[in-house]
Amino acid sequence: MSNRKLRLGVNIDHVATIRNARGIRHPDPVRAAGLAVRAGADGITAHLREDRRHISDEDIATLSDVLTVPLNLEMAATDEMLEIALRHKPHAVCLVPEKRQELTTEGGLDVAGQHNRLKPYVDALGQAGCRVSLFIDPDERQLDAAVSLGAPVTELHTGAYCELSGDPQQEELERIRRATAYGHKLGLEMHAGHGLSYETVKPIAEIPELMELNIGHFLIGEAIFHGLETSIVEMRRLMDEARAS
Ligand code: PXP
Repeated sequence: MSNRKLRLGVNIDHVATIRNARGIRHPDPVRAAGLAVRAGADGITAHLREDRRHISDEDIATLSDVLTVPLNLEMAATDEMLEIALRHKPHAVCLVPEKRQELTTEGGLDVAGQHNRLKPYVDALGQAGCRVSLFIDPDERQLDAAVSLGAPVTELHTGAYCELSGDPQQEELERIRRATAYGHKLGLEMHAGHGLSYETVKPIAEIPELMELNIGHFLIGEAIFHGLETSIVEMRRLMDEARAS
């Protein structure tokens, strides 16, 4: 049994997606962040995309001012995003790959293949006091590269595991388990996220070396039916139950 609490980072991007559908101020992702914290979120995650399709620059500025829990800013490794991150100095910055046409972050960052391109971003963010996390596929080569880049944290992409079923899903889960143990042994703080729901969260939450899960789309969708606080409380309960088992 692991006695370390698994942190829950609630990703509020899709509150902003709904707001932006009308181009008005409601629903406000900052208000959602406050509710999420009240319901037990240990941190708030927001992805400032290059095309600003959901979270805006103003959202990041306001979250930086008002949040009482750590802000995890997800962003692509670009000069524009680096400048914004250095202005607000969030607690954590998670570097993600970004393609304009994708519906969501499709795969992990190829940190092994882009070492030299990423190094200045990891260094600058680290020197500014941000905890740098790299969003990667559960792959030992990528974990080795994360260590050589000097990032203290990696977040493993659980999207493939969530989309699969049957034996292939179990194989992907095993890959995530092995990668988490490997990364932990290398000294990395291990996080995971993407696509997690009530149905898929428990086997991931049971992985003892994981310290944090970041969950967004499912919680915001579920909030339509049961409210945001109720949805987060239930996710928290499932995570705690998995940890206690
Ligand atoms: N972690 C990272 C790095 C992400 O890019 C995302 C999606 O923005 C998430 C977690 C959350 O994924 P989901 O919204 O599918 O729960």
